[in-house]
Amino acid sequence: MANKFYITTPLYYVNASPHIGHSYTNIAADTLARYMRQALGDENVWFLTGTDEHGQKIQRAAEAIGLSPQEFTDKMIPQFRGLWKALNISYNDFIRTTEKRHIACVQRSLEILFQKGDIYKDKYEGLYCTPCETFWLESQAQGMLCPDCKGALEAICETNYFFNLEIYQPWLIEYIKKRPDFIKPQSRRNEVLSFLTLNKLSPLCISRPKERLSWGIPLPFSTEHVTYVWFDALVNYISAVGEFDAQGNYKSRWWPADLHLIGKDILRQHAIYWPIMLRALNIEPPKTVFAHGWWMVEANKMSKSRGNVVNPIEMVEKFGIDVYRYFLLRDVPFGLDGNFSEEAIVKRFNGDLANDLGNLVYRTLTMIEKYYQGDIPQGAGFKNEQGRMIAKKIEDLAAESGALLTIAADFNFSLSLEKIWELVNTANKYVEEIKPWNLAKENKTEELKAFIYLLVGMIREVAKTITPFMPHTAASIIQQIGKEKIQKGNPLFPRIE
Ligand code: MSP
Repeated sequence: MANKFYITTPLYYVNASPHIGHSYTNIAADTLARYMRQALGDENVWFLTGTDEHGQKIQRAAEAIGLSPQEFTDKMIPQFRGLWKALNISYNDFIRTTEKRHIACVQRSLEILFQKGDIYKDKYEGLYCTPCETFWLESQAQGMLCPDCKGALEAICETNYFFNLEIYQPWLIEYIKKRPDFIKPQSRRNEVLSFLTLNKLSPLCISRPKERLSWGIPLPFSTEHVTYVWFDALVNYISAVGEFDAQGNYKSRWWPADLHLIGKDILRQHAIYWPIMLRALNIEPPKTVFAHGWWMVEANKMSKSRGNVVNPIEMVEKFGIDVYRYFLLRDVPFGLDGNFSEEAIVKRFNGDLANDLGNLVYRTLTMIEKYYQGDIPQGAGFKNEQGRMIAKKIEDLAAESGALLTIAADFNFSLSLEKIWELVNTANKYVEEIKPWNLAKENKTEELKAFIYLLVGMIREVAKTITPFMPHTAASIIQQIGKEKIQKGNPLFPRIE
C-alpha cells in the first residue's frame, strides 16, 4: 500500500443549495478518508473538497438577487460548510476557486501552456448554450436546442483562446489502455476509450470574452478574456496542495491524487480534459478517477423545476446523521444509480439498524447489567467448534470488509457493510441459539461468561469496522462497551413506526 492517500471531491457549484446528490460524493469520500486514516495514520491522508464559484451560472444567480458575484458566493459558502459539518465530513482542506492561491495557480498554468504553444488564439463561429457554457456543432444541436439542457442555442462569433487537445489524444488512449485502474468502474473506462477512439477531440475553448461573462479568472495574456470555468475548476486539485517553482515545475507533498471521486456526468472533464492538461503541464495524472451513479427521485432527475429536490439537512434532522450516511452507502452499489425515498430509509432503519445492530448492542448490555452488575466478564470465549468459528470471523472481519473498500473492489461500500452485518446477524442468531437466559437459570456460570465475552468481542469489532461509515454510532458503542464496566445508554436506533 502506498504511504499516502490524497482524495478529492468535485467542487460544487454554489448557484443553488447542495442537495442529496452532492452530499453523496462527500459522504463516500469521507468514509474512504476515515478508512485510510485508520490504515495509514492521520498525517498520511489528505481529503480535499470545496466550491466552484466562477462562471455564468453563478453570475446569473447573483444578478437575480441583486448581489455582486463575490457577495453572492460569500453568502452561499456557509450552506456548504454547514452541511459538511452536519454530515460529519472530515475534510482536511476546503478550497474556493475565488481564493488567491487558486487564482495564482490557474494563471500560472495558463501561462505555461500559452508559452508552450498548446494554447492559441482563434476565431470561433458557431452555436453556444449559455446556461451550460458549452459550444455545440450544428450536427449536435437538436433543432437549435442544447442537447444537454434543451434550452435555446445562440449563434455567436468571437475571438477566443483554445487548447489543442488533439495532439495529446494518442498519448491519452495509450495511457488509459495501459492502466486498468485509471478510470473506474470499468464500464466508464470503456465509455471513455470508445469515445476517444471514435472521435477526434476538438480544441477546447478555454476563454470567455469579458463582455459576455466577466466573472472569471482573468487570462494572464489577454485583458479581454476570463478563463472558462472548467479549466479554472479542475486546477483546484493541484492548486490546493502544491505550487509551481520558478522553472515551472509543480511541487507537492500530495500529488498525484490517489482518487478523484466524481459523478458520472462530469467524467469527460476528469478523464479527458484533466489528464491532458496535466500532461501538457508536465505533471503526472491522478492515479484513479472513479465516477459514481446518480440519485434519482421516483426515477426522475432531481431538479428545481420538478420540485423534487431532497434537502440533506432535512433527512439528517429526521433520521440522524449516521442513518443517512448508512442508507446512501448501503442501499446502492457504488457506481450505479439509485432511487431515493424516505420509505427506503425507514426500511433500512427498522431492519438493519434497529432490529439488527441496535438490538444486538442493547440486549448484550442488558445481560451484562443483569448478570454481572455491569462488569464485562473476562473469559476466553467458547472453546468448542462454534466458538472457534466465531473467533475466526471476528479476526477476519476488518480485512474482509476492508478489501471491499479498495479500487480492486470498485469501492463497494454496500458489500463492505453487508459483510459487517453478517457478523451482526451471526451474533443475534447465536444469542437465540445459545439462550444465555437458560445458561443463567441452570447456573452454567463459566459457559455464560465465555458466551458474553465472545458477544462483546463481536460488538467491538463491528464498532471498529463501522467507524468510517458511521463515526457517531461507532463512538457511542465503544463508549458503552469499550471499557471493563459498561455504560448503558438508550437504544441506538429506536424503531420508527
Ligand atoms: N462544479 C462542477 C464540478 C467541478 S470539479 C472540478 C460540478 N458541480 S455540481 O455542483 O453541478 O456537481 C457536483 C457533483 O455532484 C457532480 O459529481 C455530480 O455528479 C454530483 N451530483 C449532482 N447531482 C447528483 C445526483 N442526483 N446524484 C448523485 N450525484 C450527483 O459539476
